[in-house]
Amino acid sequence: MESYQAFEVTEQEDGSFSQQVVSRSTPVLESGNVLIKVQYSAINFKDALSSTGNKGVTRKYPHIPGIDAAGVVLESSDTHLKVGQPVVVTGHDLGMNTDGGFGQVISVPVDWVHTLPDSLSVEDAAVLGTAGITASLCIDKLLMTGLKPSDGPVLVTGSTGGVGSISIALLSDLGFEVHAITGKADQHNALKALGVSEIYGREELSEASKRPIMKPRWAAAIDTVGGVPLENVLKSLKPQGSVAICGLVASPVLNMTVFPFILNGINLMGVDSAEVTSAKKAEMWSFMIEHRAVLAKYQSWVTEIGLNQLPEYVDTILKGNVAGRTLVNLS
Ligand SMILES: NC(=O)c1ccc[n+]([C@@H]2O[C@H](COP(=O)([O-])OP(=O)(O)OC[C@H]3O[C@@H](n4cnc5c(N)ncnc54)[C@H](OP(=O)(O)O)[C@@H]3O)[C@@H](O)[C@H]2O)c1
Repeated sequence: MESYQAFEVTEQEDGSFSQQVVSRSTPVLESGNVLIKVQYSAINFKDALSSTGNKGVTRKYPHIPGIDAAGVVLESSDTHLKVGQPVVVTGHDLGMNTDGGFGQVISVPVDWVHTLPDSLSVEDAAVLGTAGITASLCIDKLLMTGLKPSDGPVLVTGSTGGVGSISIALLSDLGFEVHAITGKADQHNALKALGVSEIYGREELSEASKRPIMKPRWAAAIDTVGGVPLENVLKSLKPQGSVAICGLVASPVLNMTVFPFILNGINLMGVDSAEVTSAKKAEMWSFMIEHRAVLAKYQSWVTEIGLNQLPEYVDTILKGNVAGRTLVNLS
């Protein structure tokens, strides 16, 4: 494979950014690296930021975004990774300042690569991807507090997003009663089919409250949105409740008192799926493989697109209008 196709973002002299599908030369294998033929990627919120010139995510352009890549080994400097072996890479620096999964070939360090067992296809690994790793890390943190289904319902915010919807599928498979917040009135039936028992509109948690603590409603929560909704979640957890947080689509700002933490013993736990150790990622892949049955009911949450459709879907995800996972088919 001498050249490959990629979705490239370039910075113009006037400071604007343009996106185009280009042909690139396949890189020479560096010592300690693996060349992977990418078959599937997926669009994450971070990819939308990188694709539109967000320097907090990507410092230098031209750049190929894509924090998820699933495919097969093309060439390897590690004898354990054989040519043709199905693999997946998520996070680390992939798609940020290292060219990512929106190209048909990536070159990454060996220790970023996870091999796939026969029981998980390359396509399903991309469906899960960073969203699945993040959902699993959030659930892992909640379970480490001793949380169990009999403690009460678990709330998921940003519920139709990638992280939110996979969190729901996994929590439901673990036997939890799941409640969800969504801005999409047309997705209520799909959320119920995924395992949600109570659905609230975004307005339920969007008003800032002066009250330091509110009526206890949930035993735990997974929050993907931050801001005022997260403040209200923290104030509405049952005593000793926990929330695992990963996102900021509503806001990165929290403006509240310490009372829920020091009077109700609430735990606020952060998740970073990009730089978590490879060993922890491997543990999360094992967890998802164990619960891969959820993928059967997740099929209607997957949209497949080609490289040429990325600009349209980048825009849609930035507007918060995507439901589930958008796979990029690079074959
Ligand atoms: N820390 C980490 O390691 C990590 C990893 C992955 C993702 N993230 C972050 O987690 C967040 C979610 O990621 P994702 O990939 O799931 O994104 P996504 O697929 O774009 O989903 C985000 C969802 O949030 C809801 N939403 C959008 N705008 C909102 C607003 N203004 N107020 C309240 N809710 C809003 C929407 O769901 P509804 O319409 O259902 O409300 C939307 O579908 C992002 O901030 C992302 O950067 C962090």
